[in-house]
Amino acid sequence: MLAFVSAAALLLLVFPSVEEWIWSYLKESYGLILDTDSAAVSNVTGDVPQKITVTAIQTLFYTLMVLEIIIWMALVVSIVRFFRQLITRTIYRNSSPGEISSIIKTILSVIIYIVSFFIIFQSFFPTVQLTALFTGSTIIGIVVGLALQDTLGNLFAGLAMQADQPFQVGDVVTISTRGVGVVEAVSWRGVKIRTFNNRLLMISNSVLGKETIEVAPKDNLNARSVWFNSLYSDSPARTIQAVRDAVRQVENVSAKIRPVVRIRNLGDNGIDWEVKYWLDDYTRHNDTDALIRLRIWYVFQREQIGFAYPTRTIHIEPKVEGIGHDEVLNLAVERLNQVSIFAPLSGEEIERLANASTARVYAPGEAIVRMGRDGNSMFVVVRGSVRVQIPDGASNRVINELRENDFFGEMSLLTGEPRSANVIADEETEVLQIKKDGLKPILEDNPALVEAISEMIHERKEILKVQIDEVKISTEKDRLGLLSSIKKFFGLR
Ligand code: CMP
Repeated sequence: MLAFVSAAALLLLVFPSVEEWIWSYLKESYGLILDTDSAAVSNVTGDVPQKITVTAIQTLFYTLMVLEIIIWMALVVSIVRFFRQLITRTIYRNSSPGEISSIIKTILSVIIYIVSFFIIFQSFFPTVQLTALFTGSTIIGIVVGLALQDTLGNLFAGLAMQADQPFQVGDVVTISTRGVGVVEAVSWRGVKIRTFNNRLLMISNSVLGKETIEVAPKDNLNARSVWFNSLYSDSPARTIQAVRDAVRQVENVSAKIRPVVRIRNLGDNGIDWEVKYWLDDYTRHNDTDALIRLRIWYVFQREQIGFAYPTRTIHIEPKVEGIGHDEVLNLAVERLNQVSIFAPLSGEEIERLANASTARVYAPGEAIVRMGRDGNSMFVVVRGSVRVQIPDGASNRVINELRENDFFGEMSLLTGEPRSANVIADEETEVLQIKKDGLKPILEDNPALVEAISEMIHERKEILKVQIDEVKISTEKDRLGLLSSIKKFFGLR
């Protein structure tokens, strides 16, 4: 580039001397004089030179002039290009976010070319009125206008888009009628988009201006959703946990935002799920989606979660009642045997209690017991864990956590008072619910159990007293008072 500029400058420097030499040669050898202002050719002797000689000399004169104009224009073009490159490089080095758009660069360059051409041309041909040529000729205007109709349309659409800057090079765009791809270049004519099949899509600005375009900017955390389904028999809480952990480990899934796994629909064939995640590099979203589906398959295998097929499951109700009942009962007996408070009970009493209990499953965050409500049942945690919490201003204060084989809800059940706290499932939690009717005969036969439970209630109330200033429990009631009120409530001797 620099060599070319230097050569052109050198040529322009020597040009006048070459011209001078030609004219003096013509004068000395043939006695011909050229007036460089009017391009008139005369003879030193005063004779009129031959017409053919005059035409040849004038042609040479004008050729030299045009040549000089061309070299000037080449010089201008080279300088403009040099500065364009310089500006682009400086911007890249400074890694400025706003790249100067190629449309604006092109327009600026074209303006500089036109102005330079005007100046150079007018300095060579001062008598020719170029402005009049451009402004005065309506016909030229119409012809040029018609010929450039599309080009100008593209140019103005491109300018409007440039002002809006809806997307930049590197962004992923979805154009409703054309497809998806990565923007490769934005020019005054149109936009170049590389599709994900590695094809180049060239869409003119005027066409693009009429389209609906969805943009996933490259410097943005763009989200994607992948859908899958599972069987109704598999626990949703376990599915959420397993899928979220699997998705988090997939490459290109952003660590900045936790993936969201949620139920989209309770469908005919199973539970329809959506996992929403955020990508570091959106241009690789197809590969990332595929990898996520792959990982979901593997995690389902490991966790023994089943995909729902488009099938219909027909359940045939057994004629004989109670099938499976024994199994359920055995399980409940096994569970109740683990609970320390029921240790004094005989095997037969535990079985009676198991018969009066129902298994229930709660999702994480669900309230099993609500403060202030009436309660006529107590619960034993079979699987999972719960938080015992009381309101504290706008939020809640956790006062205890209960796990497998712990029990709760006994206060209301045994005293008839409203529920003293909220009990919330911390994770997916399975409980055995024991109703008052089921517990009453057992209590009647086991005064030791009544005492053990009232002991526990007393301890818990003490904690509650510390936690809440104005807890609605009778502070004056001592342990014995509590025991007698339980007995009274249950009609025990
Ligand atoms: P109930 O009052 O029926 O309903 C709320 C239950 O929370 C309550 O019975 C107890 O079983 C339980 N609870 C209240 N306070 C405590 C505590 N300090 N520790 C453990 N459990 C509690």
